[in-house]
Amino acid sequence: VDNLSRGRESFLASLANHPDFQFHAVDCADYDALAKVVSGLATPVTNIWHLAANSDIPGGIADPGIDLKDTFLTTFQLLKLARDLKIENFHFASSSAIYGDLGDLAVHEDVGPLQPISNYGAMKLASEAQIRAAVEAYLGRADIFRFPNVIGVPATHGVIVDFVQKLKATPDELQVLGDGTQRKPYLHVEDLVDAMLFISDRADDRYNVYNIGPTDIGVSVQFIAETVRDRVSPEARIAYGTSNRGWVGDVPRFNYSTARLSGLGWAPQLGSREAVIKAVDQIARQEAVD
Ligand SMILES: NC(=O)c1ccc[n+]([C@@H]2O[C@H](COP(=O)([O-])OP(=O)(O)OC[C@H]3O[C@@H](n4cnc5c(N)ncnc54)[C@H](O)[C@@H]3O)[C@@H](O)[C@H]2O)c1
Repeated sequence: VDNLSRGRESFLASLANHPDFQFHAVDCADYDALAKVVSGLATPVTNIWHLAANSDIPGGIADPGIDLKDTFLTTFQLLKLARDLKIENFHFASSSAIYGDLGDLAVHEDVGPLQPISNYGAMKLASEAQIRAAVEAYLGRADIFRFPNVIGVPATHGVIVDFVQKLKATPDELQVLGDGTQRKPYLHVEDLVDAMLFISDRADDRYNVYNIGPTDIGVSVQFIAETVRDRVSPEARIAYGTSNRGWVGDVPRFNYSTARLSGLGWAPQLGSREAVIKAVDQIARQEAVD
């Protein structure tokens, strides 16, 4: 289910003929439309995987109503659906944005206080709280997956898409928001999906909270800019800004702890560096076709 505000039906082309697959263009904040789809299915639903959200963080800062509807109300209505239709299991795509800017502090799952610095992060945190309360009242189980920066294809947004599109428009110069020193962990989406399935299979509490990410300290925006430049337009000059933040709500450094997930026995195939190199190539191909 997707309202196609950012997603495209063409992303699902490889699944279209699978006998167990159905797609419904529905807004997850619209309870009646959701209930109609789910109660009309031949097989009862046992699991909700909730990944719908507003992924435009600056857009949500300009208009907080976007995050309220697409990031929080979607969670609220899907939980109501789980209660009304007795759907036991809820898996949620949360975000490292719930932690806010903790500087060099190791960001493990129980760190606090949680002070998100974007409306997006605030609405993800509110969603987590609502899910926790639902576990107390009616859900059988919930998994909270706190994603780092995720990259890969099909890509709708993010730093690599931005850089590739900018270089397509101006092949001689790449303008970078911020001074390039921001450093973050990056996970390839194929590893992310593997980790979510692993946690849902192996974690055995009724309420499971996991940071998902690579085990390294991440790569800088400068590394990403140079990798995109080398792949897309090798002669281009890179022009950096002066701030160590790309935009309001950007967290310049992140010491993300994935020790809990390592303890469960999961490890990614790719580190941040390899994930960036792979995703840059994939996204350059995607944007060449678009
Ligand atoms: N990409 C990342 O780095 C990252 C990091 C942390 C968390 N996440 C989370 O992962 C999930 C997937 O994000 P993504 O990066 O693939 O972004 P995305 O924008 O490509 O995917 C989000 C999807 O949700 C859909 N959507 C938005 N509002 C909706 C609504 N009201 N009803 C139904 N569908 C709706 C969009 O059309 C889109 O297809 C989101 O929950 C996002 O918050 C992503």
